[in-house]
Amino acid sequence: MRPFLKWAGGKYRLVELIKAQLPPGKRLLEPFAGSCALSLNTDYHNYWLNDINTDLINLYQALQREGTAFIEFCREYFTPETNTAEKYYEIRKQFNRETDILVKSALFIYLNRHGYNGLSRYNASGEFNVPFGKYSKPYFAEKELTYFLAKFENAEFTSLDFETMLSKARNGDVVYCDPPYEPLSETSNFTSYSAGGFGRSEQKRLAEVASRTAARGIPVLISNHSTDFIKEIYQKAQKIEFPVRRFISCNGDNRNTVVEILAIFK
Ligand SMILES: C[S@@+](CC[C@H](N)C(=O)[O-])C[C@H]1O[C@@H](n2cnc3c(N)ncnc32)[C@H](O)[C@@H]1O
Repeated sequence: MRPFLKWAGGKYRLVELIKAQLPPGKRLLEPFAGSCALSLNTDYHNYWLNDINTDLINLYQALQREGTAFIEFCREYFTPETNTAEKYYEIRKQFNRETDILVKSALFIYLNRHGYNGLSRYNASGEFNVPFGKYSKPYFAEKELTYFLAKFENAEFTSLDFETMLSKARNGDVVYCDPPYEPLSETSNFTSYSAGGFGRSEQKRLAEVASRTAARGIPVLISNHSTDFIKEIYQKAQKIEFPVRRFISCNGDNRNTVVEILAIFK
């Protein structure tokens, strides 16, 4: 099943490949959950889904708490009248001021489908600043929302830094980490998921935390671009590389192949 959100770096297309490398366990932990593409398509007894983006986690908690009534509420924002640039910027402004979590979460779904490329980008003051996407009929993902709700009825959702989360992992857990990609070149780092970036020191910190977690008997799988730097910091892990076809240019028709890596710390 597809996630109900569009998410930069989403792994829906790679689910089978990643799943094949995941060790068995009782509970799956995703410290960088994003749209939860992998978890949605696995069959663990339980899930702990985490992401530093609090708007995202507030939305998942709202859906879990309010159920189908929340889905119905979200649908109200998907009309021809709300699909204009003027209305979009009005709703974006409302989102940045909104204090009611339920309303803000519904607006987040609206922005995700009406904003450019489904990006979730914030300026230095933490304001959502993605421009209008100009889609002819934005899709309201009712089927996907309903599936998510049932699948994660008992899941735990948190918004912690990955290191804090992993310090609380226990025996029987399995971890899949999908951090923001290490850029392929100095200029290609186009995404910003939340205020604050994910640079080389963060990538290194993650590799160290993965080693420590594995030493406690909890296996950790990490995906990333296969660059020299990444291969060096994943030295202690078992590694698999594979090519992925990907849009790389702004005009959208320039496809290229990049090499990705899956590293298993165990
Ligand atoms: C590549 S995306 C994950 C995509 C996800 N696997 C999917 O299929 O949609 C990386 C995620 O890491 C989150 N993130 C960035 N820094 C983080 C941190 N320090 N701790 C936890 N999550 C973080 C971002 O908000 C973003 O959602």
